Parts: sequence; structure tokens; C-alpha cells
Amino acid sequence: MDAIEALHNRISSPLLTEPAPNAEQLDSLLKAAMRAPDHKMLKPWRFLIIEGAGRQAFGDLLATAAQARDPEIDDEALEKARNKPFRAPMIIVAIACITEHPKVPEIEQIITAGAAANNIVTAAYALGLGAYWRTGTPAFDETVMKGLGLAENEQTIGFIYLGTPDGRSRRLPELDPTECSRHWP
Ligand SMILES: Cc1cc2nc3c(=O)[nH]c(=O)nc-3n(C[C@H](O)[C@H](O)[C@H](O)COP(=O)(O)O)c2cc1C
Repeated sequence: MDAIEALHNRISSPLLTEPAPNAEQLDSLLKAAMRAPDHKMLKPWRFLIIEGAGRQAFGDLLATAAQARDPEIDDEALEKARNKPFRAPMIIVAIACITEHPKVPEIEQIITAGAAANNIVTAAYALGLGAYWRTGTPAFDETVMKGLGLAENEQTIGFIYLGTPDGRSRRLPELDPTECSRHWP
């Protein structure tokens, strides 16, 4: 698919099914991430790939974290947390890795990691895959971040759910650039 076509038409796929991206597609998604604009080439990102049985371990971690946040949590809510990773056959955890740099403040490093994550989502669309970028409470939860092995200088910026789109996607909105732009002065 043409790059402009992908950029203009990308849409999230809330319903995802098997198959997961294959090895070649995953490689392509990660290469797209690594071409994000990156001030001083700090590469302020890393990615964890969770698939297959790994989703069970991730679900257990989400449930443990939910229970730590709310010791009174009921069984239904606990099960809901445990099942979240099964919404897709693969999840890429996108992590911003922040280092001190005299010319590249933290916000730029987080933006770059976000651009890398966005490249994954757009590349997935271009490859005919489905993707859905989620965060929610778990992305900022200490138990989850520790369980995933994040260091003190790292922050989860997205759980990118990936797979094959299941069902029709919603209609694309009309894009009118005049809504958000004007010439200056
Ligand atoms: C940083 C970030 C975090 C997001 N977190 C969530 C989330 O937790 N849950 C959710 O439903 N959508 C979340 N979204 C939005 C969806 O990924 C999606 O972009 C949105 O539903 C609009 O759909 P579209 O991408 O098809 O236009 C997040 C997007 C970004 C960029």
C-alpha cells in the first residue's frame, strides 16, 4: 500500500483475531518503529512482544496489579483484567526509555517513542493487519511496569494490540485540514 494511502486511511481495529503478524511482518513493524524521527539518535524506545502463552502471564500480571490497586476487587473484575490480553493474538508493549541529555529533553524522547509506536500502528494498517493502541490504568501501574521489567527511567506508552481485523471497521471520518490549521501570519 502506498504510504500516503496508509497515512490518510489508517483506522484502529478494536476486534482482532488470529493469525498474529508473522515473523516477517513483525520484523517490518519493528523496522518502521526504528525509523521514527529521533533527535540525536538516542533510540529512546524498546518493545516487548507478547503472544501465545505469554498472554496468560501478562493477564496474570494485570490481575495481580488490579488486586493490588483494589484489594476488595470482585472475581468478575479480576477475571476481566486477566482476560484483557486475549483481545488479540499479539501485543507489542511500547516503552519510552528516558536518558539525561543536554539537548534532548524528556518530552522530546517521549514524543520520539510515541512516533515509533505510531509507525507500528500505521505500518500494520499498510500490511493489511489490524492494530489498536491502548494504555489505560495498567500502562501507568507500578506493579505492571515492574512485572514487565521496566527500569526507573522507563515508561510504558502503549499496549499495541495486533492481529487480523475481525469484522468491518467503522467509517472513516472526512478529513478537513482547515479545522486544525491556518497559514501564519
Ligand atoms: C497514547 C494513546 C493511548 C490510547 N489509549 C487508549 C485506551 O486505553 N483505550 C482506547 O479505547 N483507546 C485508546 N487510544 C485510542 C485508540 O488507539 C484509537 O486511536 C481511537 O479509538 C480512535 O480510533 P482511530 O485510531 O481508528 O481513529 C489511545 C491512543 C493513544 C495515542
